[in-house]
Amino acid sequence: MRVLTGIQPSGDLHIGNYFGSIKQMVDAQKDNDTFAFIANYHAMTSVKDGARLTELTMQSATDFLALGIDPEKSTFWVQSDVKEVLELYWVLSSFTPMGLLERAHSYKDKTAKGIAANHSLFSYPVLMAADILLYSPDIIPVGKDQIQHVEIARDIAQKFNNEYGEIFKLPEFKIEESVATVPGIDGQKMSKSYNNTVNIFGEEKKQLKTIKKIVTENVPMEAPKEYENCNVYNMAKLFLNEDECKELQERYKRGGEGHGHFKLYLHDVIWEYFRPYREKREYYAAHQDEVREILQAGAAKAKGVALPMIEQIRSCTGIAY
Ligand code: ADP
Ligand code: TRP
Repeated sequence: MRVLTGIQPSGDLHIGNYFGSIKQMVDAQKDNDTFAFIANYHAMTSVKDGARLTELTMQSATDFLALGIDPEKSTFWVQSDVKEVLELYWVLSSFTPMGLLERAHSYKDKTAKGIAANHSLFSYPVLMAADILLYSPDIIPVGKDQIQHVEIARDIAQKFNNEYGEIFKLPEFKIEESVATVPGIDGQKMSKSYNNTVNIFGEEKKQLKTIKKIVTENVPMEAPKEYENCNVYNMAKLFLNEDECKELQERYKRGGEGHGHFKLYLHDVIWEYFRPYREKREYYAAHQDEVREILQAGAAKAKGVALPMIEQIRSCTGIAY
């Protein structure tokens, strides 16, 4: 099965991004044909500083490689290295009713928050449809906020196919319910917009400081404690196997330890979990030319799929003459 995802290069990754998205992509590599790209054109809707966008793109590439995107198994590239996506974006625009975009939640949410309603923000789902349809994937793993965008891609594909025949494969979205929402240090959904994240590649002291801020119940040290709704437990369980979870539950039930102890334990667990990834990250950070080469090779692989598709589209739409 071909699985495709785009990831905006939007800064420091947190453990919500890891369990909600990156890990799923890494796991999918085992027995799928995985396509993953850094959506730098999409990021232009929010990042208006050129040097910063370049830096974020390289940072994201470095992070994803460190976290297990394997260029031998996956096609991994930067969106803008396959410019045909912009051509398809224009073609698809002629099959995109205004009403479809006007109904998009993400556009409505962003403008409601005061973000300027410019054309790229409005037509964001059309570029996303082009990202998807250019590569004929079967599955798009997404967070809940992106479901509607995949549905828009299907609608556009259908309208195009009605006109020109079965050119586009209709993509399906997939949500991993068990990790649909990783809680932040305040118990709300972890998100960089809420300032409640535990980052993957932060400094150790900083991570410990953040973990100490996790909101917990105020219960005396000796007393038994509830684990089900405890933010520390709920974060820890993402990293633990069944036996380790049970052991931690027992410690909560037994009493005699405060939340401070559980926080120290959580810090150690997270720090150890990401240790090998941190080492890999240090390697790639010191070898940015190698990262660029990997991205170039990935773009060449992606073009191998994109070019025959765009030629077919030029031909059926009459653009090729
Ligand atoms: P943020 O909310 O921090 O801005 P993004 O919107 O950039 O994160 O999300 C990037 C990816 O990570 C998406 O696939 C999204 O569904 C996933 N993700 C982000 N936060 C969480 C979370 N708290 N739990 C599960 N998945 C998440
Ligand atoms: N819009 C997605 C997000 O914000 C990123 C993205 C761009 C994407 N193009 C895509 C995701 C194509 C899946 C498929 O998370």
